[in-house]
Amino acid sequence: MAGKIFYTTDQPGRWKGKEGGHSPLIKVDKKGGDILIRAATQNGMSKAHYIVKHILLDEQLNYVNEQVFDQAFDMPRSRFELNGFKGRLFIVSMCNLHDNWINWADV
Ligand SMILES: [Fe+2]
Repeated sequence: MAGKIFYTTDQPGRWKGKEGGHSPLIKVDKKGGDILIRAATQNGMSKAHYIVKHILLDEQLNYVNEQVFDQAFDMPRSRFELNGFKGRLFIVSMCNLHDNWINWADV
C-alpha cells in the first residue's frame, strides 16, 4: 500500500519529489527506561499548505497518541514520552495537500 494510500521516502508514489518536506524525521532518546520520541516534518506552515498532525502507532499499527498542529502557531514537531516501550513505532505525518507519510524507528 506504500506509494498508493500512504507514502514513504522510498515509495513517494504520485508525490515523487515531495519526500524531503513530508517524510517525518524521528529521533529516539533513551535514558534508562525513559523514552522520548521526537518527530519533525521539514515543511513550512502556511494557510494554503501545512502539516495537520503527527500520529504515533505501535508495531501492530495500533494508535498510541497524536499531536495536532495549529497552522497559525505551531511548527510540525511533536514529542511523545513512551516510558518502558520496546519495539518498532511508526509516525504518520499528515499534510493537508499531500496525504499521509510514514516513517518508523526501533526502540
Ligand atoms: Fe504537502
